[in-house]
Amino acid sequence: MKKTISILILFVAMIAVFSACGKKSETEKVRPKVIGFSQCNSAEPWREAMNQQMQNEAAKHPEIKLIISDGNQDNSKQLADVENFLVQEVDLLIISPNEAQPLTAIVEKVHKSGIPVVILDRKIMSDAYTSFIGADNVLIGEMAGKYAAKVLNGKGKIAEIWGLKGSTPALERHEGFVKALADYPDIEVIYEQDGAWLRRRGREIMENVLQRFEKIDLVYGHNDPMAIGAYLAAKNANREKDILFIGIDGLPGAEGGIQAVENKELSATFVYPTGGKEAIETALKILAGEKVERNITLGTRTVSLDEGK
Ligand code: FRU
Repeated sequence: MKKTISILILFVAMIAVFSACGKKSETEKVRPKVIGFSQCNSAEPWREAMNQQMQNEAAKHPEIKLIISDGNQDNSKQLADVENFLVQEVDLLIISPNEAQPLTAIVEKVHKSGIPVVILDRKIMSDAYTSFIGADNVLIGEMAGKYAAKVLNGKGKIAEIWGLKGSTPALERHEGFVKALADYPDIEVIYEQDGAWLRRRGREIMENVLQRFEKIDLVYGHNDPMAIGAYLAAKNANREKDILFIGIDGLPGAEGGIQAVENKELSATFVYPTGGKEAIETALKILAGEKVERNITLGTRTVSLDEGK
């Protein structure tokens, strides 16, 4: 009898302990903070690398949940993505805007609603954000200009293939380049065209440039894919040996700019870090209530085979 009673008591006690545990874990289960990342397009290798860095960093932190939307290089699609994050009441927005002007009002709206905003790589036309992260594109443009002047020995004809003109890196990479070339009156930019950051467009533009001009000494692509596209067009026309090609991004890997320099397709590239890791690190700090820098400037460097000569 005694034995039966003690087994019964033990049984009741176990049930009590289990149910208490259950309740505790339910109250302790905290909802992860949601970070919405509005990517302007996930198709290019550089953007894929940025997304991957973010996902790797976010995976280390179970207290956050990262949602990435793909704007497909389309301002209205990206605007709808951000509206959607606002409706979902995300805890923080990270955005790399396709073009500055069309995305400015929606970012202002998010910021005004009290949601912290981290802007990554491309800027908006407003200071309604918590932190901006990106490399200095004016400086990169200047480095490209100085490099061009050096390899051309201060004289020559250049074709410039722009990134999307409504995006700030294109404007800033142009500005820096022009600034560096101001000291070289014998260097002339004979042709400029918007290549929308696309390799396919770089190739098409170069086909046109090759038809129009007999002499081109250097092609400055605002990114590596466009510079590589231009190289391929020149190769197709058997003129690649007469022209130097420079780009920006310096992405590692088989398709990247560093490999293109090693293959001697590009003379140089300038590393443009994606900032994916830094964006998540910054978001975590903001969500923890810590103060962050308003502008976080990422580093760059020249990659070329003649470096140091
Ligand atoms: C990718 C990309 C990069 C470039 C950056 C500028 O979409 O075009 O090649 O460096 O965006 O924002």
